[in-house]
Amino acid sequence: MKYKNPSLSVQERVNDLLPRMTLEEKIAQCIQIYIPPDHPGEIVDRIRAVGLGSRILGAVSLAGNVSQRTAGIEDLNEIQRIAMNEFHLGIPVIHGLDVIHGLRVIFPIPLGLAATFDPDAIQKTYNIAAEECFRLGIHWSFAPMLDIAHDPRWGRIVEGFGEDPYLGAKMAVAAIKGFQGELDENGYQSQDHILACAKHYIGYGGAEGGRDYNTAEITDHTLRNIYLPPFRAAVQAGVGSVMSAFEDLNGEPASGSRYLLTDLLKEELGFNGFVISDWASVAELIHHRVAANEREAAQIAFDAGVDMEMVTECYAHHLADLVMEGIISMERLDDAVRRILTQKFQLGLFDHPYADVQKSLEIRDLSAYHAAAREVTARSMVLLKNNGILPLPGDVRRIALIGPFVNQRRALLGTWVNDVLADEPQTLEEALRASCPDVEILTAPNGLMDEMIMIAAEADIVLLALGESNARNGEYNSIASLNLPAGQEELAQAVAGMGKPLAVLVFAGRPVTLTRILPHADALLYAWHPGSMGAAAAVDILLGKVNPAGKLPVTFPRGEGQIPVHYNHKSTGRDHPRYLDMPVEPLFPFGFGLSYTRFEITDLVVEPVEIPAGASVNVSVTVTNTGECKGEEVVQCYLQDCVSRRTRPERELKGFQRIALQPGESRRVEFTIGPDEMSYYGAGGSWVLEPGAFKVWVGNDCKASLEGSFLLK
Ligand code: GLC
Repeated sequence: MKYKNPSLSVQERVNDLLPRMTLEEKIAQCIQIYIPPDHPGEIVDRIRAVGLGSRILGAVSLAGNVSQRTAGIEDLNEIQRIAMNEFHLGIPVIHGLDVIHGLRVIFPIPLGLAATFDPDAIQKTYNIAAEECFRLGIHWSFAPMLDIAHDPRWGRIVEGFGEDPYLGAKMAVAAIKGFQGELDENGYQSQDHILACAKHYIGYGGAEGGRDYNTAEITDHTLRNIYLPPFRAAVQAGVGSVMSAFEDLNGEPASGSRYLLTDLLKEELGFNGFVISDWASVAELIHHRVAANEREAAQIAFDAGVDMEMVTECYAHHLADLVMEGIISMERLDDAVRRILTQKFQLGLFDHPYADVQKSLEIRDLSAYHAAAREVTARSMVLLKNNGILPLPGDVRRIALIGPFVNQRRALLGTWVNDVLADEPQTLEEALRASCPDVEILTAPNGLMDEMIMIAAEADIVLLALGESNARNGEYNSIASLNLPAGQEELAQAVAGMGKPLAVLVFAGRPVTLTRILPHADALLYAWHPGSMGAAAAVDILLGKVNPAGKLPVTFPRGEGQIPVHYNHKSTGRDHPRYLDMPVEPLFPFGFGLSYTRFEITDLVVEPVEIPAGASVNVSVTVTNTGECKGEEVVQCYLQDCVSRRTRPERELKGFQRIALQPGESRRVEFTIGPDEMSYYGAGGSWVLEPGAFKVWVGNDCKASLEGSFLLK
């Protein structure tokens, strides 16, 4: 049979296979189910008879925070053997799992990865995750999560790349390239790569009140200009799958919206991969009360453009009848199956369907991955305050290491970790003792606050490790107050009262309220939930082995009363809206982060200052390291469309570069602002480029004040 011939192109093989399939066999490809490891039950009979689209390897929908056994290679290969040899067409099953920030070696949470402002580092990170997945027989990760988030109360802010469309788009491309690699001349992916999944399409982060799964009301103008850019970039980068979201967006559940899934995603953006629903989001159309039963749910979702149903069985039970009754066309079914088969051929699943047990054993040595993780983790951490006590002086003799995060392991990994596979991390105490063998490290082994205060009095310097549990982040884990967990602010205040230099480390999966501890801290390092090498990376920064350069990918409010607060707000008809009881300025702005050295950004030049439609301008500055040690700076370029037919943000990030400079070194840094950066979705959702004046600012956070301008004629 031609479709089994690997020398043919992907499309030739799909075109040969599709007509050979019966209605039931086509529908089977539109189904993803969970098969209990070792207990496949009657599933194997179904696979023998009609095949199966996909097997999800997570047993529960809240896979991010529960320990669960993931199927082993032998189990995966056995199901695959049945699909390839006992099902007459031999169509492989694609195995999917949430590998959100690493499989065994865990990297920082995606919000922390975004703080690197370093797409190359992110691509390498996701490439390592892909290699680990591939070697263990996992073909598909339900990542990257591209949901723009303005509300830190939302538990899933942890899982995305923050508040900015441009940063989110750059991170999306990096993650997808890391997972999928590049297609070869025949349209096939190379080994050690897996299928990516841009999720959750779309507007999930706009949940009312920051309450996960809640309704979102987002105008089409805002949806297209703020929430869509990361997905648009993902499609342009060739992402092979997109996951439809749970929430009701503007009166339609995203998993039942033909406008979102077909008109916008597939037709307007040209997405040619396949759409998978979120966990049970097809059947949940009944809970949204837009479908009276499973049959209506199947019809609505499939007609809207959901090609594969995750876990529930609406398609399995009703799609055949819907097609035979002509309610769903065979053309639509063939379209869905074509999309799914294309990805399976592209992945090489027909030609390399089995996980190589020997190869999986080869990656027992995680040292190379650990080194990469240690590096990218240090690049993710953000120095928010430092009056000079960091890096720790080389002659420090006694350090008090106190706080709830001194001996944490699992919490360092963050949410969305497959516990049974994850590599156990070092604790902060272990990492500090390993790096400072000659320094006396004082700790409070009983974890009692009074002990902590007592040892603080005896030390030269105090390191206070605070933060929130991984269980307070992720799916379904939204909070009403952004305060650190009970007691931590009081501890910081009491320790500060002992009058010793105090460096605070915060381990969290979201912006937490730092307003009351900031005045007591001489230094504050935001470490996120940093993953397997988090403790070692944090110590590298404390000791000055790494000079921090992370930047905030999300605004830090003074408290939840300011939410939503984000830098790319619009101009308003009157002076900026205010509160009578709190400043409107957040505690820390988007793009902010300090270094152990200092950088000056000067000599901004925009050329040319007048351009015709379709042309670009070059914006350049000189960046100088005016401090005493080498360091990296994330130089950021912001743009304002001065007058436009639809209201626009006062400024938007349109370029960033992370550069390394030796002390005293200067370098010119250039940004190109072209039609794509100047255009936006205007009236009626049309992509427009309007003539007029533009301003640009370049600096080291969103408050950049070095200004230039140009005219688009
Ligand atoms: C979950 C999440 C989604 C995940 C899927 C499979 O409910 O919403 O992000 O990929 O189910 O675990």
